[in-house]
Amino acid sequence: MTRSAPLSADALLADVLEGMGRTPKSLPCKYLYDARGSHLFDRITELEEYYPTATELAIMEAHLDEIVACLGPRCLLLEYGSGSSLKTRLLLDRLPEPAGYVAIDISEEHLSASMRHLQEMYSHIPMRAVPADYTTSFAVPSNGFDAARTVVYFPGSTIGNFEPREAHAFLARMARAAGPGGGLLIGVDLEKDRATVEAAYNDAQGVTAAFNKNLLRRMNRELGATFDPETFRHRAVYNLEEGRIEMSLVSACDQTVRVNGHHIRFEEGEPICVEYSYKFTLERFQGLAERAGFAVRNVWMDANRLFSVQYLTVL
Ligand code: TRP
Repeated sequence: MTRSAPLSADALLADVLEGMGRTPKSLPCKYLYDARGSHLFDRITELEEYYPTATELAIMEAHLDEIVACLGPRCLLLEYGSGSSLKTRLLLDRLPEPAGYVAIDISEEHLSASMRHLQEMYSHIPMRAVPADYTTSFAVPSNGFDAARTVVYFPGSTIGNFEPREAHAFLARMARAAGPGGGLLIGVDLEKDRATVEAAYNDAQGVTAAFNKNLLRRMNRELGATFDPETFRHRAVYNLEEGRIEMSLVSACDQTVRVNGHHIRFEEGEPICVEYSYKFTLERFQGLAERAGFAVRNVWMDANRLFSVQYLTVL
């Protein structure tokens, strides 16, 4: 996945044309999360088939005492993502004397709504919202908090949406953001059978399909492109060799789409790659974390070992 700021129409156009020029064609997945996309994603997390959200929440609930003990008193929690999740509220409910909470999210609308809501619920916790693409460098506003340590919170196994090289660079950046003595509390999805994984990314109700196709609508709206979402089919295949689920939109026919004066040809059956989601073994994730400057301190899992929540400290 490629991510770059800022999210202007020019940047969108440049990224789209670049992706359409590749073989196979691809689209940068950060553009999935406009207001409608963020809403559809919230619906994905509530789906029966989408095991990561419910499993991660159950792990957090089962081990909350141990988790907050790792984070310790006067912790500044730095969440990469909007903070709209129940998991964040579990932490805020139980952290001893939290020093503050900062959320960084690409969807400004989504971020300000969830922050307003959170601040009302936790009026005693100092909070700040940072509208930014967290994969690029942004200023971490950790000043003004009386914190003993900074812990980055990165739930949802979003780390799996990066290619291995980018995941490494991104983890290293989170280690710098947490700083010496800091930590990372992260959700990491685990390798498992094909049927479970493929169902999670291709739900019966078609919410994931709608989420991915929203990218086409967004290009129509913001770039005047002429994609017909009806002529693309959502596909999710678990590639066991690469250890990842691969999502794409497949053209159902030969067609030409216009994007800002450019003509883009699709053959019947031709895919646009939208997103990968890597699934890890504990060993593989540990190697990745260590190369990025972390030590794995704790791993919590559900009984079926579908998902893990891990606490890492900066080396
Ligand atoms: N981090 C999530 C995951 O990989 C993101 C995700 C879930 C996603 N479903 C998706 C991204 C569908 C794109 C399309 O599980």
